Amino acid sequence: MIIIKYLKGYKRYLTVGFISGMISSVILSFIPKVYSKIIEYLINDKIENLQDHLLLYFVLTISCNIFAGIRGCIFMINIEYIIDRMKRDILSNYFKKDLIYYNDKNLNEVGNILTTDAKNIADIYLLNSNVFIRDLAQFITITYILGQESFLLYVITILISLSLVIVEDIYFKVIYEKTIDKTNTLLVKQNSIINDYINKIETYRSLHLENIINDMWLNLNTSYIRMKNRDSICYGINLLLTQTVNEISITLLIFIGLFLEYSTSSILIFVLYFNYISSIIKDFNGIQKCIIKNKLSIKNVTDFISNNDSNDNLSDNEASYIPNNYFNPNIEIKNLTFSYDNKKNVINNLNLIIEHNKITGITGHSGKGKSTLLKLILGFYTKQIKTGQILFDNVNLKYIDKIYFYDKLVSYVGQEPVLYQGSIKKNIIGNLHEYDKELYKKLLFLINDFYDDSNDDSNYDSNSNDSNDDKNVKLSGGQKQRICICRAILRKPKILLLDEPTSALDIENEIKILDLIEELSISYKMTIILISHNKQVLSKCNDVIIL
Ligand SMILES: Nc1ncnc2c1ncn2[C@@H]1O[C@H](COP(=O)(O)OP(=O)(O)OP(=O)(O)O)[C@@H](O)[C@H]1O
Ligand SMILES: [Mg+2]
Repeated sequence: MIIIKYLKGYKRYLTVGFISGMISSVILSFIPKVYSKIIEYLINDKIENLQDHLLLYFVLTISCNIFAGIRGCIFMINIEYIIDRMKRDILSNYFKKDLIYYNDKNLNEVGNILTTDAKNIADIYLLNSNVFIRDLAQFITITYILGQESFLLYVITILISLSLVIVEDIYFKVIYEKTIDKTNTLLVKQNSIINDYINKIETYRSLHLENIINDMWLNLNTSYIRMKNRDSICYGINLLLTQTVNEISITLLIFIGLFLEYSTSSILIFVLYFNYISSIIKDFNGIQKCIIKNKLSIKNVTDFISNNDSNDNLSDNEASYIPNNYFNPNIEIKNLTFSYDNKKNVINNLNLIIEHNKITGITGHSGKGKSTLLKLILGFYTKQIKTGQILFDNVNLKYIDKIYFYDKLVSYVGQEPVLYQGSIKKNIIGNLHEYDKELYKKLLFLINDFYDDSNDDSNYDSNSNDSNDDKNVKLSGGQKQRICICRAILRKPKILLLDEPTSALDIENEIKILDLIEELSISYKMTIILISHNKQVLSKCNDVIIL
């Protein structure tokens, strides 16, 4: 059970919680008995006996609630700590997973592992075991109390409660649940249509596809309303059914009690306990349903955290080589064959050498694997390399320490410029504690047409829909591209990898960047690898490789 490893240090508190819950349940189980006595004294006008029982009733109720409160408090606090521990573990696994893990997954679902699934797991195990232990204590106590009254009537009460739960359950599973599921599915589809429209509004609008969206949405809505009507009828029947079956069950119990010639006070006790028993049986049934419903969450978290079954994780102990400061390697691609999905080879037996301190251009038709090659040099998708190797001065890339590799050796600007949340300055400086102020100033020259460093209160957030946030800057593709280039260069890597770095830029900005790149390769002894389709860019390269 996955939860067990996160309980360390909390077992003591949880045990106190469980015990408090059990005590509260045991006390609770005596309340109907005392209550029945009170009713009996009231009916028979025995006011003199009432006082003691009223006091007892009061004491029982208060103490039951005190223990229930302690139980609730302990559980709420500890569950949050336990979930937090599990979430930290999950979070660190996001950082360890190989990129290929994310390649064929629904990213929303992968993200939900950290939020919804982790919480579901805590609910499944902790809340359910809490309910189970409480109910069990209550069930045993009630069995003891009612067994003393009449074991036969007790068994009959259990059987009636069981049939009540079964009837409700059958109705729910066979009819009601399906309607609810269908209604929800239609709602999700409607949402996804409109979300898709909003996210791609410029494309939809330019193609004038609103009519299609409109028709699709209205079609779904007609089905939704039809389903919702059915849902409402089912809901009504469900209410009617649960209430009626409950009342019928109690009436039946009274009839059986009378038929078997039990005293009215015994029958009254059984009637008062009936709802307790049926709710315990419902709880047990609910626990089983909750586990079935959330089985996927258990699987998701277990699979995600356990590293043994998969090839997805990078192995830290293998990658421990840290070169000295003078390391300025040539990069050799030797007999490299690569496929993302083990079917179609994207790179086929490639051999080439990229010399240090030079600008190497890579060009070739779209889809030939240029970006893929850059990602492989970056150490991504290493486990998918079928044959061959990538060597940095004879050292296989996979043995180089990852922190050194990404902090000191390489820096990358992808084909799609990506900024993270925060100011423009934060985007450029990133996690650098110290940086070359001279170089920083030089880089600002690339973005001074839209960015003023002395007055930076900008905030970039691609996900923000908050139109009141006037600091949230909107940037053009070319502006983002230039910021990404500044970010990569400020890290002063030994190897700078640029995937079509000027594709979104005008000639003037392109020239500024090319001049800087030329300067970097000479004065900072940087090895620069850049992908481009542009002749002017390629003309600045010392070598050009055609894929
Ligand atoms: N993450 C991925 N998963 C699976 N296949 C991929 C992935 N990324 C790229 N591919 C496939 O690999 C091939 C090469 O893609 P790549 O992006 O390397 O081409 P490219 O040469 O950079 O093209 P372009 O000039 O259009 O940018 C393509 O057929 C593409 O479908
Ligand atoms: Mg590409």
